Amino acid sequence: GSTLQEAASDRGRYFGTAIAANRLSDSTYSTIANREFNMITAENEMKMDATEPNQNQFNYSQGDRILQWAQSNGKQVRGHALAWYSQQPEWMRRMEGPSLRSAMLNHVTQVATHYKGKIHSWDVVNEAFADGSSGGRRDSNLERTGSDWIEAAFRAARAADPAAKLCYNDYNIDDWSHAKTQGVYRMVRDFKQRGVPIDCVGLQSHFNPQSPVPGNYQTTIESFAALGVDVQITELDIEGSGSAQAENYRRVVQACLNVSRCTGITVWGVRDTDSWRASGTPLLFDGQGNKKAAYTAVLDTL
Ligand code: XIL
Repeated sequence: GSTLQEAASDRGRYFGTAIAANRLSDSTYSTIANREFNMITAENEMKMDATEPNQNQFNYSQGDRILQWAQSNGKQVRGHALAWYSQQPEWMRRMEGPSLRSAMLNHVTQVATHYKGKIHSWDVVNEAFADGSSGGRRDSNLERTGSDWIEAAFRAARAADPAAKLCYNDYNIDDWSHAKTQGVYRMVRDFKQRGVPIDCVGLQSHFNPQSPVPGNYQTTIESFAALGVDVQITELDIEGSGSAQAENYRRVVQACLNVSRCTGITVWGVRDTDSWRASGTPLLFDGQGNKKAAYTAVLDTL
């Protein structure tokens, strides 16, 4: 294939990007996005603060814009994210206890129902585990409603949209030796054993010199896959430049290709200037929309 989506599709995978609705009018941006990618994630527009700005008043305008753009260009959509400690609307940040639990479940049900049948995979729960050596849950208002909030969210999502694959998504779970990775692994194993509906694990895979592509990255992918879930690389970006950056991208793509249940890769933005990373040049296209060495490495590896 001569584009990322064609090459990935020849390998039975998808290749995606995150899209910001307010950039779609930039024709350099939308031309690249349309040409190269066949899986779309809304960078912010389907998050809790965007979709339920006031309790029980849902706003799908920006999320629907992205969905429409994707569908009209023949692309699939990853839903991101139904429940998360961050980017909660102000009203939810002030809530706790049983009323927060029901508000969260109502949010999952309403949003998954609105997008029912249109979403390839949902990040049902995002970033619920703690960094550091504990291997336990992150403290948050949602966690304080009871640690079964995650399985409750997955059950609500399955009931609302039985066709969507349901993913647990997190960062710093790329290194198999990290306590956080092990904590997520134990949760997924427990969910599979008890029949909690989970279909996939999303490795965000935000890499930089402090958090490089781990040598055991493929082991992590294989280990999750062996539990009977798909693995998706959901928010890939790698700080750096030139041949070093290209080599890191190559290693990530190769690790995914080496595991049949690693079903797709999404990069977190189009051009370096679109990245959420204020400094650094972590993506596949430069600010002018030119293909970088990292792009060529990805295309050649696929
Ligand atoms: C980021 C977006 O890229 C930014 O525009 C926003 O200001 C903050 O969130 N993990 C996630 C994503 O799951 O939703 C985050 O996206 C990046 C880290």
